[in-house]
Amino acid sequence: MSHSFNFQGKHVVVAGGSSGINLGIAKAFAQNGAKLFIFSRSQDKVDAAVEFLKEDAENVVGATADVRDPEQVIQVLKQANEVFGNIDVLVSGAAGNFPASAIGMSSNGFKSVVDIDLIGTFNVMRHAYEFLTKPGASIISISAPQAFTPAEMQVHVCAAKAGVDMITRCLAMEWGAAGIRINSIAPGPIEETEGMKRLAPNEAVKKAVQKSVPLDRFGEKQDVANLALFLASPLSSYITGTVIPVDGGWTLQGFGHYMELMKQAMAS
Ligand code: COA
Repeated sequence: MSHSFNFQGKHVVVAGGSSGINLGIAKAFAQNGAKLFIFSRSQDKVDAAVEFLKEDAENVVGATADVRDPEQVIQVLKQANEVFGNIDVLVSGAAGNFPASAIGMSSNGFKSVVDIDLIGTFNVMRHAYEFLTKPGASIISISAPQAFTPAEMQVHVCAAKAGVDMITRCLAMEWGAAGIRINSIAPGPIEETEGMKRLAPNEAVKKAVQKSVPLDRFGEKQDVANLALFLASPLSSYITGTVIPVDGGWTLQGFGHYMELMKQAMAS
């Protein structure tokens, strides 16, 4: 279910906005009047996402940049500023994940996820600062349950996302006086996402995941987008530095049983 917010004329930038949860968030802002600037690594995905967003919004621009490279990030944020002016809402959502044990991945495998999720988040926020609307901008980072729930096969993601949450909290302190709020959303199992394809590789695991969610269903992208709209709106004007799960209560129970099933699925 979608609720109505007014982002008419607001400039929303979504890093990693060409697919999955981030595209769902971009779509929700498009449906509520925003001007959208999205970027990700893949030109094809960006092109398709722009077409999709244009069904709801006139002002949509896409660009390619790898969040791991500060120079590319700076260029793309400058472009966003030139096209649509100061940034009112910044969503930092570019992420990577694969299930692997610590001894099943190289140092470079660990580093690649830390580079995208953690360093990428810093790059995007750090270099967006000069273009943000001050006061008034809202930054939303995309965390994960792995940031606060340790999990086997996820040491890289747990470490990276815990760092993302700390960036959220630290910058909320540093940038609060400038009138910038920063909050983090930690989506649980959301259906039809690349992440869940990787982390719930077959029907048995999917069923087990659903059973372990107190609300007994997978989340929808709209569930995450609804929180993003709220966190970007004046309704949340006294909220900053928080990490809010959108997970149907999933993380209340920890990951143990599910990770055991996932390991079995990967071994078979
Ligand atoms: N198990 C173990 N190691 C893996 C792996 C897996 N399933 N997948 C990748 N790696 C390792 C690679 O072996 C490589 O290490 P090496 O150079 O020592 O061999 C390292 O990770 C980087 O892989 P590469 O494919 O070159 O990196 P990339 O930058 O092209 O891709 C990833 C980054 C690995 C995170 C990739 O999964 C990705 O692009 N993901 C984006 C989409 C996504 O994950 N969406 C879900 C978000 S929740």
